[in-house]
Amino acid sequence: MKRYKRSFASDNNSIVHPRVMEVLQKVNHTHELSYGEDAYTQSARKKFKEVFGRESEVFFVFNGTGANVTGLAAMTQPHQAVVCTETAHINVDECGAVERFAGCRLLPLQTSDGKLRPEQIQPLLHVLGVQHHSQPKVVSITQSTELGTVYSLEEVKRLAAYAHSKGMLVHMDGARICNAAASLGISLKAATADTGIDVLSFGGTKNGLMFGEAVVFFNRQLADSYQYIRKQGTQLASKMRYIAVQFETLLSDQLWLENAQKANAMAAMLAEEAERIPGVRITQPVQANGVFVSMPKAAAERLMQEYFFYPWNEEQEEYRWMTSFDTEEQDVLEFAAAVREAMR
Ligand SMILES: Cc1ncc(COP(=O)(O)O)c(C=O)c1O
Repeated sequence: MKRYKRSFASDNNSIVHPRVMEVLQKVNHTHELSYGEDAYTQSARKKFKEVFGRESEVFFVFNGTGANVTGLAAMTQPHQAVVCTETAHINVDECGAVERFAGCRLLPLQTSDGKLRPEQIQPLLHVLGVQHHSQPKVVSITQSTELGTVYSLEEVKRLAAYAHSKGMLVHMDGARICNAAASLGISLKAATADTGIDVLSFGGTKNGLMFGEAVVFFNRQLADSYQYIRKQGTQLASKMRYIAVQFETLLSDQLWLENAQKANAMAAMLAEEAERIPGVRITQPVQANGVFVSMPKAAAERLMQEYFFYPWNEEQEEYRWMTSFDTEEQDVLEFAAAVREAMR
């Protein structure tokens, strides 16, 4: 098996945060009730209410695709549609799971920066009430976006208000919501519940957990059937305590913020280094933990001999570099030196 140097491919490539590993060990000595009936899960649910507000309701799941798919299934019926960006994870990277499991259509829209705006959604809505067409019901946004950009608070609030004014709901894919909140300098509640969104897929894996994501309902009515949807969707963990304790750790002592700030700072540093390399161009504003660059394919391929990362748009010779909470300054400097070398 080929071993690469520190990966800039994905925040999923990172280690488990030591405090998370520690808590997994710590709880690993007793028998507990299963399927979330245990005291650890109850305690983590309480923690979520402290962080996201008393009105919120959290459900733990295994992974981000599961959070998105089951969350969206709770928000839609099969004759309805979800508006998203063309680059959305639900559109590109979930193997059609939303269409298969929720049964509804996706209506992907092109954007230059990964962000949806009400003006783009409006032209889709002339089909509302027409029996021949899938009915747009949900606007799904990703925060931070798949392009490493971050919606401002005003942008999210404006979208949510617009969607609601049209009888629609808002889902946020928050696989990297911690990075977005850190970037905006606001609390998780301010970045989510307070914006008016209805359902959040809250990411843990990219920010220090071994595994586990959460679906957080701010619109409580939508949560009514969710426990059945989660079970049908094979996302109900019998040993749920092992997901719950990881989340409680992430939400305690601001670990979520510490991790996200570190990842974001490393991306900013990498962008600063890369900008100084002739022939490398940053293609998106670096607002969270992703750096998108264009560079000649031959140079990128030379670099990939040592460092693994993904092409984003092969025709445009655009590549994605991700940082994570365990990226160190030294890793960035070494990688930047390798980029410079590959560009020679
Ligand atoms: C924006 C976004 N949403 C969701 C996910 C979750 O995916 P997974 O099902 O691999 O946990 C990812 C992971 O790459 C992602 O980047």
